[in-house]
Amino acid sequence: MKNIFTSLLLFFSIILTPSISKADEGMWIPMLLEQLNMSDMTSMGLKLKAEDIYSINKSSLKDAVVLFGGGCTAELISNKGLILTNHHCGFGSIQSHSSVENNYLKNGFWAMQQSDEMSNPGLSVTFLVRMEDVTTKVLEGINDKMTEATRETAIAKNIEKIEKSSIKDTHYKAKIKPFFCGNEYYLFITEVFTDIRLVGAPPEDIGKFGGDTDNWMWPRQTGDFSIFRIYANKNNEPADYSIDNVPYTPKKSLTISIKGVKKNDFTMVYGFPGSTEQFLTSYGVKMIMETENPIGISLREKKLSILSTDMASSDLLHIQYADKYAGVANYWKKWIGENKGLKKLDAINKKRIQESLFTAWVESNPERTKKYGELLKTFEKTYSKLTNYTLSWRYFAEAGTGVEIVKYAWGWNTLISKCLDPNSKPEDIQKIIEKFSKSAKNYFKNYNAPTDKKVFIALLKMYYNGLNKTLHPEIFKTIETKYKGDFSLYADFIFEKSIFTSEEKVNKFLASFKTSSFSKIEKDPAFQLASSIYNNYYDKVMPQLTILNDEIDSLSRIYVKALKEMSPNKRFYPDANLTLRLAYGKVADYQPMDGVNYDYFTTLDGMIQKEDPNVDDYKVPQKLKELYKNKDYGRYAENGKMHIAFIATNHTTGGNSGSPVFNAEGQLIGTNFDRVWEGTMSDIMYDPNQCRNITLDIRYTLFIIDKFAGAKRLIDEMDIVN
Ligand code: ARG
Ligand code: GLU
Repeated sequence: MKNIFTSLLLFFSIILTPSISKADEGMWIPMLLEQLNMSDMTSMGLKLKAEDIYSINKSSLKDAVVLFGGGCTAELISNKGLILTNHHCGFGSIQSHSSVENNYLKNGFWAMQQSDEMSNPGLSVTFLVRMEDVTTKVLEGINDKMTEATRETAIAKNIEKIEKSSIKDTHYKAKIKPFFCGNEYYLFITEVFTDIRLVGAPPEDIGKFGGDTDNWMWPRQTGDFSIFRIYANKNNEPADYSIDNVPYTPKKSLTISIKGVKKNDFTMVYGFPGSTEQFLTSYGVKMIMETENPIGISLREKKLSILSTDMASSDLLHIQYADKYAGVANYWKKWIGENKGLKKLDAINKKRIQESLFTAWVESNPERTKKYGELLKTFEKTYSKLTNYTLSWRYFAEAGTGVEIVKYAWGWNTLISKCLDPNSKPEDIQKIIEKFSKSAKNYFKNYNAPTDKKVFIALLKMYYNGLNKTLHPEIFKTIETKYKGDFSLYADFIFEKSIFTSEEKVNKFLASFKTSSFSKIEKDPAFQLASSIYNNYYDKVMPQLTILNDEIDSLSRIYVKALKEMSPNKRFYPDANLTLRLAYGKVADYQPMDGVNYDYFTTLDGMIQKEDPNVDDYKVPQKLKELYKNKDYGRYAENGKMHIAFIATNHTTGGNSGSPVFNAEGQLIGTNFDRVWEGTMSDIMYDPNQCRNITLDIRYTLFIIDKFAGAKRLIDEMDIVN
């Protein structure tokens, strides 16, 4: 009986397992395009050759795509080092130059001459020089009999050796990263530039239009772009900021097309997607859907409701908390969309079906049964242990470190250690005190104790109620006994007695600081709370979490290897890991729900329709309204309309923000900046019907630079074609 069942399943597995992955899904390795994707892309309309996209022998599109900072993408749009990225990627830099007198966030910034371009210490841009498959070298000396720990150490040693030798006598950097859960390894040689200057940014009412209300959503009219320039030394090499530096001459800069896009047009996105988890088992998806996301959503929801009430009550509070609010809101909203999408896809069951096919394949052969027979059961067991620790970690991360005073107080730990270190000299202590005084200034500039107190009460209560007592921080017992579990009472005590509630108290404490004063920090009630929360995490949670996650990692490595054996003709792509990838697809509308069709593009008309001068997210600058009224769009309009954004089926994720979006000729047609809400589960499971990336139409970007800002000198640098 079992055998009939098994062969039936096997039959279906062969029928059902696609020989290639679903059209449009995938974030592909640029050096493997010829092997894996060219025939597919060409049949979809691509006019380029693989070596036009990635080559180490001649300049190619890859030389015009950079990692911007640590988590976005940007592209070269002139041969004088001009780069284009998102407004939300440049946000930190724009904000750092902003003050009440020169509020560039609010009013925008345009360097009308080169000397006005502003440097951004700490910001870097990374070029990929080349990549190489180094799997064999990294796995040299590794065998299946090794323990995981021995294996890890041996691999780390190999990696260090290869990285070092690969950049000898150059100014390049080298990094080896695992792919396919550690089944393959690739080496990346990069060149990092550190003199990056701000050139232009639209006002927030354009660059952030729609704000958090429209975030992760379509239809969208956000003009999400900002412009920077890479500077180099006289030899065109990376150099730290200097007045003598000159605009960098890139190997390649992009040609910009203002022809526009139509439905079904081929598009590709070239950039640095951060992380995806397509190989999760049903147990992993279940943990995310039922534990991680719901806890994260409910804790953040609480925090956001407190913050938004307070922010609406005063302008100062609004400024103080705007950036923090956006940070918390972004993934709160993403998790909601992700869970809805996974549910609609019936993702857990889809994974279960895949797993039963896998099991049938394994059991149909004794050799395989020996190798893989226990795999899924071990996954299940490990996840059932992991779930509680994951829960506990989420509470720690959201309700522990997510309370400002807790995180801030814990930071003072470094001062205590310095005082206790017998090697510390008085001048070391003095230095660190100055550092603390400086950081207090920055911290309290954006801090409001009454707001934090509300967050404190609400989140700690949820932390207390949500977790099994065995995983509670010690101090929860004190709150139970001494304060009868009344968190408001406890908060009164903390916020009255702690020095970590105002800059004055902190400065007063620092002004008379002696080495022995460290004990005052230890006795501070906010520090005691923080130390209980952090130590509970470090002692009780993190060690288990590390062991179990390592176990999942090694199981995943074997699982992915087995999946590849099971479907030798299937085209696999590795999960995103912040390395350069190419996604391709086509411009397409979609149906988010029964009876609704979303068109593939938006226009300035939609922005004007959304305008509401009383709602921050929907203000439209006067100048833009005039341009709209006069239809003064220059050469950037299409049939009298100013297009703003479009959607397509490219598989993207966080980190793809700012990525160039190309047409079939490899010309720049836009900048990627988001995904649609119904498709945010693509990090776990891609659905060609619901997953759309959102691209800012390059014509709108050019229109804003040219007509709105009048920064003609920038347009003149670019290579624009019809
Ligand atoms: N959702 C986009 C991206 O992840 C844009 C984020 C901009 N931030 C915001 N809170 N609106 O990350
Ligand atoms: N906005 C995201 C980013 O900052 C891209 C959106 C996505 O996750 O697809 O990278």
